[in-house]
Amino acid sequence: MTKPPIYVARKIPEVGLELLRQQTQLRLHEGNMPPTREELLRGIAGCVGILSLLSDRIDSEVFDAAGSDLKVVSNFAVGTNNIDIAEAERRGIAVGNTPDVLTDATADIAVSLLLAVARRMKQGARDVEGGQWKTWEPRGWIGLDLAEKTLGIVGMGRIGEAVARRLWGGWQLKIVYTARQPKLELDSRWGARHVELPELLATSDFVSLHVPLTPATHHLIDARALSLMKPTSVLINTARGEVVEQDALVEALRGGGLFGAGLDVCTPEPLPLDSPLLQLDNCLILPHIGSATVDARNAMAERAANNLLAGIRGEPLPFPVRS
Ligand code: NAP
Ligand code: GLV
Repeated sequence: MTKPPIYVARKIPEVGLELLRQQTQLRLHEGNMPPTREELLRGIAGCVGILSLLSDRIDSEVFDAAGSDLKVVSNFAVGTNNIDIAEAERRGIAVGNTPDVLTDATADIAVSLLLAVARRMKQGARDVEGGQWKTWEPRGWIGLDLAEKTLGIVGMGRIGEAVARRLWGGWQLKIVYTARQPKLELDSRWGARHVELPELLATSDFVSLHVPLTPATHHLIDARALSLMKPTSVLINTARGEVVEQDALVEALRGGGLFGAGLDVCTPEPLPLDSPLLQLDNCLILPHIGSATVDARNAMAERAANNLLAGIRGEPLPFPVRS
């Protein structure tokens, strides 16, 4: 029997590719860069399944190019803002993602950024490498304390909770948070408080963003929101670049409106080398590596492959996404 054709937009870890090879006819986009739009539209023609990455825009043009056999889009990510989910639903195409298995890895990156920005590690490392380290400095490279400060989690979901757990347990930070629904169990476990965003921004020493990118969260942190934050506070973004109005962030960081920012995500990705953010000592940027650990990426590959295989069999996806 001929195996069903599927398109895989990049080389994911072997464990996922092997699962797919056993049961499908794999069209794998080789190379380290994403497929161009033309390559993607050409590659998916006639496929029953697409394994996409967060850098692939999956919309009605893609669904049209794939044709009427397309049954499933499996995203190699937990975030699905790159996919037009409502349009997929209208067409009866299942969509899956890879939650949970990257939660710890991403929370670790958020905490790492927070510590690195609070303790001015970018400036310190630059000074060491640039020969500016002349002596032990009693007034040099002075950063922020963490213990008993207030942490604001914007989006207390899986990753937000994992960040709060680390910082509450390790440094006894007080926790305030936003979410669509209050999490009463966290309120009693950690003394966390569900608050409105303006209160969170005004009272937190560290603000960490963990909402999905949706029309409601696009530029949630704009100039007005930034103006509510303490000048001594730190903003961490491991969610999506577009949750923050980046020009306003540059102004706040330049003008002393914030102590610093740590970003695993930005707009666009990759960030152009002439971006003003790269000139700032108080802004540390990583290349979207939240889930980049061996265990997380292998588990994501397995989860994405299993979603895709279930979808082409017409079965419910193990990890479905709905609008
Ligand atoms: P999640 O468990 O679904 O958590 C999302 C949280 O955001 C939930 O608490 C949700 O509230 C809240 N939320 C959603 N819309 C909101 C709104 N309009 N206003 C306020 N709160 C809102 O998702 P997750 O697994 O933690 O992942 C979060 C995001 O992190 C992903 O969507 C992705 O964009 C990003 N991410 C980045 C990396 C990276 O490599 N940097 C890795 C993984 C994920 P309720 O709980 O009340 O529903
Ligand atoms: C990474 O950003 C993800 O959403 O999994």
